[in-house]
Amino acid sequence: MTSAPRIEIAEHAGVCYGVERALAMAADAATSAPAPVHTLGPLIHNPLVVDELEQAGVGLADTLDDAATGSVIIRAHGVVPQVIEQARDRGLTVIDATCPYVKRVHHAAERLVADGYQLIVVGESGHPEVEGIMGHADDRACVVSAPCDLDAIEIEKRVGVVVQTTQTQEALADIVSALLARADEVRVINTICSATQERQKAASELASRADVMIVVGGKNSGNTRRLAQICAERCAATHHVEDASEIETTWFAGAELIGITAGASTPSAHIERAVNAICNLTGAVHAR
Ligand code: F3S
Repeated sequence: MTSAPRIEIAEHAGVCYGVERALAMAADAATSAPAPVHTLGPLIHNPLVVDELEQAGVGLADTLDDAATGSVIIRAHGVVPQVIEQARDRGLTVIDATCPYVKRVHHAAERLVADGYQLIVVGESGHPEVEGIMGHADDRACVVSAPCDLDAIEIEKRVGVVVQTTQTQEALADIVSALLARADEVRVINTICSATQERQKAASELASRADVMIVVGGKNSGNTRRLAQICAERCAATHHVEDASEIETTWFAGAELIGITAGASTPSAHIERAVNAICNLTGAVHAR
């Protein structure tokens, strides 16, 4: 007789500190902030969560023009300072859910610019977090994602570097070493947040042992898609689901170990629903 499969959740999975904090602030605002309450852009890249917030009374505004009265919630990625000023000028109540680790990048960028450094932001051009960082550097910064991007920039003698929170230490090291060959002084403030890398490392470790991997989270979430990619490289039977209802019994035939991971924008309730669905479909046991 074959025994029931085991379910194991990756050591680091699901919402990070900044997203959990933003969700709690939104839930609080739904009942206590002046109505109507809107998030400026989706609070996180997870359509289910955006729907849940809508049901709780927190709508979605693409721009300040879509939130004429009441309150606006600034998401964990942060924004350029002008957006907060404009919202206040229009009489809106601002609930600033910018992650404190992202604020740290803003302050570092401001300090380096004030101290006269040419600012380089290591990150993904066009990403909302990077746009917010640029706004705190008087838009005088250059965004660089790889050493070759430096070729298009006239590098000054004194260069300051900050990093988008989700970048890797390797990407930062490569760019700093290329800068050291070109500038007299390179001042680096390492603003990487470990949450993303912890999730990737834990997913990789579990996927190398699991027979089936389930990755839970928004299909539009960059960090969840990256987790799915890492898992698929180590476990061919990897499935990325947004919701537990997408999980199919046939995926688990013959599996002994079922691994679960989730992006930094996946609330723990969604992971729990996936675990329950797998237990119901396969009789699997989740060792807690
Ligand atoms: Fe903040 Fe790090 Fe999450 S910067 S939003 S805790 S990934």
